[in-house]
Amino acid sequence: VIDFRSDNTHGASPEMFEALQRAAAGNATSYGDDHLTARLRERCRDLFETDVDLFPVVTGTAANALALAAMTPPDGTILCHANAHIIHDELGAAGFFTGGATLLPLPGDDGKLDPETIAAAPPASCLSIANATEAGTVYTPAHLASLGEAARRHNLGVHLDGARFTNALASLGCTPADLTWRAGVDVLSFGATKNGCLAAELLVVFRRELAAAIAPLWQRSGHRLSKTRFLAAQLEAYLDHDLWLRNARHANACARRIAEGVTEIDGVAIVRPVDANVVFLRLDAHIAEALETAGILFYDWPLFGPDVYRFVSGFTTTDEDITRLLATITP
Ligand SMILES: Cc1ncc(COP(=O)(O)O)c(C=O)c1O
Repeated sequence: VIDFRSDNTHGASPEMFEALQRAAAGNATSYGDDHLTARLRERCRDLFETDVDLFPVVTGTAANALALAAMTPPDGTILCHANAHIIHDELGAAGFFTGGATLLPLPGDDGKLDPETIAAAPPASCLSIANATEAGTVYTPAHLASLGEAARRHNLGVHLDGARFTNALASLGCTPADLTWRAGVDVLSFGATKNGCLAAELLVVFRRELAAAIAPLWQRSGHRLSKTRFLAAQLEAYLDHDLWLRNARHANACARRIAEGVTEIDGVAIVRPVDANVVFLRLDAHIAEALETAGILFYDWPLFGPDVYRFVSGFTTTDEDITRLLATITP
């Protein structure tokens, strides 16, 4: 089956199973005080070029909600883009974890916010930004830093939803530090499940006092796994031998190939810039039908207009998948 529905439909990199098998041998201290989680923290300090605290969790929604709850009181406001996953797809998780905070959607082209919009927004507790964005675009470190600066001036905490952080990083070729704390990010939801892990996401905290606020929430919400070592093992395997970057580069290259393959084809329009691994296309009805008849899977994306569809590539997308997609689209 040829599947462009989501990077969540892809399985897991084989390296995960070897890592889990190694991690399963012997005993280890429970609740995240194990040697694998400690080693991951050292690894992340090197990777991000600064001290960090880590909270491994199993979903991106939990990572986002825990981060936001640590920065927002129950009557607080969280600023985010109008297309944000936290407002569209998480069924009020941020409100639930904060005990009632409000998400305030802000406008911005191509899924991106601008510093002026943040400056003009009503008083709030924090700002949540996604990179890569839900529109498949990527903020540069300079653009992100301008948001971080606007947030600092308005006394807002800054959360980065990095469900596709590695796709953004691979697209830009900058360092993880440039795309996080150097741009004013206080806490990162570092995604890994979409890009090779079985089920592992990592909250990376760049401010010590935030870590102190997250720690009890992590436990109380049931996200502190007794065998956290199995999450650490996945995340370590993810970073080993550049697996994370290799997987994301592959997915991004597949999306680029799709975008290049459909330019100048009648009945097809690329509706958002393709910076990472997500392509939004407006398709004439006969093309969408031909794709469905060919058994190619993809989602409608009415959020971006009528006849708009989303095509997501992932680490297991093959050249053959793309060839078949393009051959079915091309008259
Ligand atoms: C931008 C973004 N943030 C967060 C998430 C949440 O991840 P999860 O489905 O693991 O809760 C997703 C998943 O699709 C996402 O696309």
